Amino acid sequence: MCGIVGYAGSRPATPILVRALRDLEYRGYDSAGIAILGSADGEGVEITKRVGKIANLESALDASPGSEATTGIGHTRWATHGRPSDLNAHPHTSCGGEVVVIHNGIVENYAALRSALIARGHAFASETDTETIAHLLEERTKSGLSLLESLRLTIAELEGSHAIVAMSPSEPGAIVAARVGNAGGVVIGYGEGEMLVASDLAAILPHTQQVAFLAGLQLARVDRSGASFINGDGSAAAVEPRRVPIDPVSALKGQYEHFMLKEIMEQPEALSDTIRSLVTLEPAGVHLDDLGPISERLSEVRRVILIGMGTSLHAAMVGRAFIERLAGVPAETDNASEFRYRDPVIGAGTLVVSVSQSGETVDVLEAMAVAKAKGAMQVTICNTEGAQTTRVADGTVYTRAGLERGVASTKCFTTAMVALYALALRLGEANGHLGPGQLGDHIQDLARLPDAAARVLQDHAPYKTLANHFYDARHFLFLGRGLAFPVAMEGALKLKEISYIHAEGYAAGEMKHGPIALIDRGFPTVAVAPAHALRSKLISNVEQIQARGGEVLAIASEGDQEVAALANHAVFIPAVSEFVEPFVATLPLQCLSYYIALRRGCDVDQPRNLAKTVTVE
Ligand code: F6R
Repeated sequence: MCGIVGYAGSRPATPILVRALRDLEYRGYDSAGIAILGSADGEGVEITKRVGKIANLESALDASPGSEATTGIGHTRWATHGRPSDLNAHPHTSCGGEVVVIHNGIVENYAALRSALIARGHAFASETDTETIAHLLEERTKSGLSLLESLRLTIAELEGSHAIVAMSPSEPGAIVAARVGNAGGVVIGYGEGEMLVASDLAAILPHTQQVAFLAGLQLARVDRSGASFINGDGSAAAVEPRRVPIDPVSALKGQYEHFMLKEIMEQPEALSDTIRSLVTLEPAGVHLDDLGPISERLSEVRRVILIGMGTSLHAAMVGRAFIERLAGVPAETDNASEFRYRDPVIGAGTLVVSVSQSGETVDVLEAMAVAKAKGAMQVTICNTEGAQTTRVADGTVYTRAGLERGVASTKCFTTAMVALYALALRLGEANGHLGPGQLGDHIQDLARLPDAAARVLQDHAPYKTLANHFYDARHFLFLGRGLAFPVAMEGALKLKEISYIHAEGYAAGEMKHGPIALIDRGFPTVAVAPAHALRSKLISNVEQIQARGGEVLAIASEGDQEVAALANHAVFIPAVSEFVEPFVATLPLQCLSYYIALRRGCDVDQPRNLAKTVTVE
């Protein structure tokens, strides 16, 4: 899950690469580096790389003479093989300096390849698996093969999934790239007299919206005049560029201190955009235009399995309840990394719904491959046009959240739940479980959501006060029932990932079966207790915590004085319909984690050890 970029054009490459690395830094920030073809002296390759964030690389570049070189590659790393260090930072080169390489993925057989290369006289400079690729490429280019052909033959030797970008002084002005499997996408950007290569759109969009995506086993060669493509077997590949409709301006932080806060605050608009793209009020209808062949097969669906990872899995858990309740179809959720290995039983009429904002998460892609091999119908919920999941699934429900840059997912969680709500309604409509009147009522409820969300986000003073009170807690318990249970799980995940406070999300009914032993004054509980979420049952859990001296923060519906009186602290959310509650109950939890992390001085947008898109197992 590293960030990759390459530039071949007529402008100086260094500032373009550094800016792109900033746009990709959310994918990993253990180290960053660039290589340019044609050093300050006009010869060879010049590599600059530093452990740590991009700022370290920038300082190093400031200290060296500027280069006018117009071809280069850059990389921001999330370490797998080899600890974060200057030496292990990409780009990597071969001993003869013939080839320079950046890579996303894991060379699973790198130990064997490395030993064989050492036996053939190669000397390694780093501990990385990536360096083996540079040496393998060099052996081939030295034997007279082109860089593209060398890459094609080299990827056949590598185990695992990869995105690889390379260049060589023997082919000035050119960059080659390969995508093998699902470890990461490769996007080619078509500018005016310049071409870009990147791991994702964020690095390309500031320059062009005209892009092409490499598929599973494809390679590209770009220079300033364009791109050519081949398949893994050497045949010509038909890869067509197309225009992607994402506004580059939305990638900026704007008035906000952090992307996470910006994205929290964008939710009313993101929800509204997503709702408007999927439903109409008059006449009431759900329009899932990208469902493809699945739109004709919805009445065949007898069972739904929802898969995802992390926050997207929590959205899937809410989706499960939507589907059971609104479509009357048995539904279950599974962690995609478990699903892919457990040889799941998939009978006729099984619909697998994957949730992935990036559409690039490797476990989700592999789980989808398993589902496909077993003949499941597949729909994916995705926020990224043209992402890999959308190309594997039979149909897609897109969310319209815009780019999400904060590593902690916020607007993509709530908009994914909208997509799942719409899918459940469509399924219920198709199989006759929902009558036209009910459909209209749900759409009315959804239409009120953006306004309710805006009200929750209007005043941040209560969240700041609570953050001041709770910021030094060492543990937190989050409890919820029914639709509020996944919300509690998500609240706990948000808190732990950005503030590093240990937090657990539990189904409230489970509390007595173990977690209650932990309760004391220093172990606060957040009870997600809006009006519909089995509130009376949750009240008894709160009483049990109070009886053991625990401190409780309740998320309650406006006017619920009973819950407020029981808890030590309360945050009120607007009274909304049952199915809209998980959306509005999520927002205070996002704000609470944000302000607690801020108060603790944490790096909110780039929490340690995390990366936005997880393209390795
Ligand atoms: C947490 C978070 C992650 C992602 C997970 C799946 O805030 O963002 O848990 O939800 O890595 O990512 P996608 O949705 O891109 O598949």
